[in-house]
Amino acid sequence: MSHAPDSPLSARALALRDVHTDAKTDAKTDAQTAPALLQVESLAKRYTLPRASIVGPAPELQALAGIDFTLHRGRSLGVVGESGSGKSTLARIVMALEPPTAGRVVFDGQDLHALGSAALRRARAGFQMVFQDPYGSLDPRRRVGQTVTEPLALLGGVPAAERRERAVEVLEAVGLGAADLDKVPHEFSGGQRQRIAIARALVTRPKLIVADEPVSALDVSVQAQVLNLMQDLQDRWGITYLFISHDLAVVDLVCDEVLVLQHGHAVEHGAAAEVLRRPRHPYTQRLLAALPGAACSSTPPGAAREPALPATAPGAESAPPTPAAASSPRGDAR
Ligand SMILES: Nc1ncnc2c1ncn2[C@@H]1O[C@H](COP(=O)(O)OP(=O)(O)O)[C@@H](O)[C@H]1O
Ligand SMILES: [Mg+2]
Repeated sequence: MSHAPDSPLSARALALRDVHTDAKTDAKTDAQTAPALLQVESLAKRYTLPRASIVGPAPELQALAGIDFTLHRGRSLGVVGESGSGKSTLARIVMALEPPTAGRVVFDGQDLHALGSAALRRARAGFQMVFQDPYGSLDPRRRVGQTVTEPLALLGGVPAAERRERAVEVLEAVGLGAADLDKVPHEFSGGQRQRIAIARALVTRPKLIVADEPVSALDVSVQAQVLNLMQDLQDRWGITYLFISHDLAVVDLVCDEVLVLQHGHAVEHGAAAEVLRRPRHPYTQRLLAALPGAACSSTPPGAAREPALPATAPGAESAPPTPAAASSPRGDAR
């Protein structure tokens, strides 16, 4: 790390650093030579909100406006911004879980939102998602084997025996195993549950994983392990990540590039080392200044919140922290 050792970014990075994490290793694919996997072009999303009264037009909210980026194979793009800046909306539109108001998402040469339902279902094998909350995202009654193979079942055409084999393969890849197939989520710690969620994302052998705050609900020590795992998987299988996090230290550790969102607009985009060391936009500068631990080293593990920015600039108001961040589970064994 090239920044001053006492900077908040360093402090958080050290807390996150685990045995063998050395992010952004030289072995990673060169952005210049890797082919484009994901192209997001002039993407916009406007939500129509419920009317406050029966007269007048329904109010609208511009959640995203004019978002453009290209993500190359084997690379990681971090999307940062405070709560409400549009990160999850971007994730859902890239995942084709909801349509954009304007613009395109081109994944592996296909305009996702122009595909018919059968073609989209087939395309879904190529991109999978990991959510923030490993408690909420796993069905408590389902056995791990069923949870992990669900994307294959939705895809269709994979026989049960092969589904099981693939489940064991991905469980082993995330540090679990065949013995876990018949267990249910409550038998696992938070970190293990997030490993199960990652295994489920891997089971279709995707090229892209969209991870929306994948470690924000975990203890810092557990965060480091899950981040290491995600990097190992990237090195081994050349996975591309769209990595959403309000935590700049996490993004610094994992991502090659950073896109900074403010009120749905991309205010800064560039190499992570550049954007996080020499932020040019005042909003990025404020995000860095508001980094948890910037002023005190006694921030409890896992207490990282979406940064509450001083409301000095117009439109810089902060939304309250997400409930999941405020009530993060504690005491994970791994
Ligand atoms: N389905 C929806 N309907 C209306 N407004 C929404 C919807 N989803 C998100 N929003 C609004 O869009 C903005 C961006 O939200 P979101 O993408 O969840 O931000 P983030 O993930 O950065 O916290 C917020 O103002 C949010 O309230
Ligand atoms: Mg979000």
